[in-house]
Amino acid sequence: MALINENYLKLPGSYLFAEIAKRVNNFKAQFPDANIIRLGIGDVTKPLPPAVIDGLHQAVDEMADEKTFRGYGPEQGYAFLIEKIIATDYRPRGIELDIDEIFISDGSKSDVGNIQEIFGINNTVAITDPVYPVYLDTNVMAGRTGQYVNGKFENVVYLPCNAENMFRPKLPKQKVDLIYLCVPNNPTGTTLSKSELKVWVDYARENRAVILYDAAYEAYIQESDIPHSIYEIEGAKEVAIEFRSFSKNAGFTGTRCAFTVVPKSLMAMTQTGDAYPLNKLWNRRQTTKFNGVPYIIQKGAEAVYSPTGQQQIKELVAYYMTNAGIITEGLKSIGLQVYGGTNAPYIWLKAPNNMDSWEFFDKLLNETHIVGTPGTGFGPSGAGYFRLTAFGNRENTEAAIQRIKTQLKL
Ligand code: MLT
Repeated sequence: MALINENYLKLPGSYLFAEIAKRVNNFKAQFPDANIIRLGIGDVTKPLPPAVIDGLHQAVDEMADEKTFRGYGPEQGYAFLIEKIIATDYRPRGIELDIDEIFISDGSKSDVGNIQEIFGINNTVAITDPVYPVYLDTNVMAGRTGQYVNGKFENVVYLPCNAENMFRPKLPKQKVDLIYLCVPNNPTGTTLSKSELKVWVDYARENRAVILYDAAYEAYIQESDIPHSIYEIEGAKEVAIEFRSFSKNAGFTGTRCAFTVVPKSLMAMTQTGDAYPLNKLWNRRQTTKFNGVPYIIQKGAEAVYSPTGQQQIKELVAYYMTNAGIITEGLKSIGLQVYGGTNAPYIWLKAPNNMDSWEFFDKLLNETHIVGTPGTGFGPSGAGYFRLTAFGNRENTEAAIQRIKTQLKL
């Protein structure tokens, strides 16, 4: 008799964005003529930059010729891409990495979800709350948590981020082993300064904890004193894994390419107290379960690092950040409390009149035909909050704000 992994049964409802899609489909079935504007999931709307398209085309042609055709590539990714990442994203910030410390993957969602496999089941996990739901859900699936009771999982340390603490997490009171940080934060848009991030690195060094640092939105950092990588903090290579993505800076949400940095100096312990390099474990995991990102896609990602590619992704980020400004100003002008949107493509707002998040989701959809994301989907501290994305196109973003201003009954 085959038994199921009952940890899955602890998860309430569906995955957040699947639940939203279901509700929107129901609404569409009821009102087929409604012109829905989607500012829910953080999916990009502008096409891939021309430099990337050129890179992809050239790679397709190579695959058509026996002399340049490629079969299986290295599971860890091609050196041509990793070298560009080191030279462009890290070296100019004073960070030296070896080629075998970077692993190319098909997305940060997969990596932040899979990474927990290389850690023991008895580790105590801390997550900031609210946050991207994949961190918690994948630990639930693995059996690293207890049951879901009153909106929270047992045996998980939630670090509440709210307006009172300006959405900045405080260090946990108890000892934790794995800490998920997402900076700039999804959903609140909060960043951490060097000195704020140093507090976490120091905590991890003192407690032999590992920080799982999701920097998928680093390209959106506008303020000059905000670190783009956790490795800008002294000692971070001993305690942190960093996740980066081409999804949000270069429009790869459908194309799929990302990378994860696992420094060779980063150790965790065996039961018998021996230090073991996590780089070796992740390499073992990837070589066993993953066959690498397609050559064509990696050539597209490489093109992001050409001078033209760099200029084009800057323009993409600027475009979405202009949307963020339009949303922020529009919401403020009708008296809503708005956060984020300065160093991140997300706008985090307080639902008006103490409404709960799903209630506001329904109200916004019914009165304005706009889809957003309810704050509770990101954790219990998201209750009463709501997220809008700046990844729409300009026309829809402007139309959405116009509708909110004129049709939303406050
Ligand atoms: C989000 O909307 O939070 C993100 O787009 C989800 C993701 O990147 O997987």
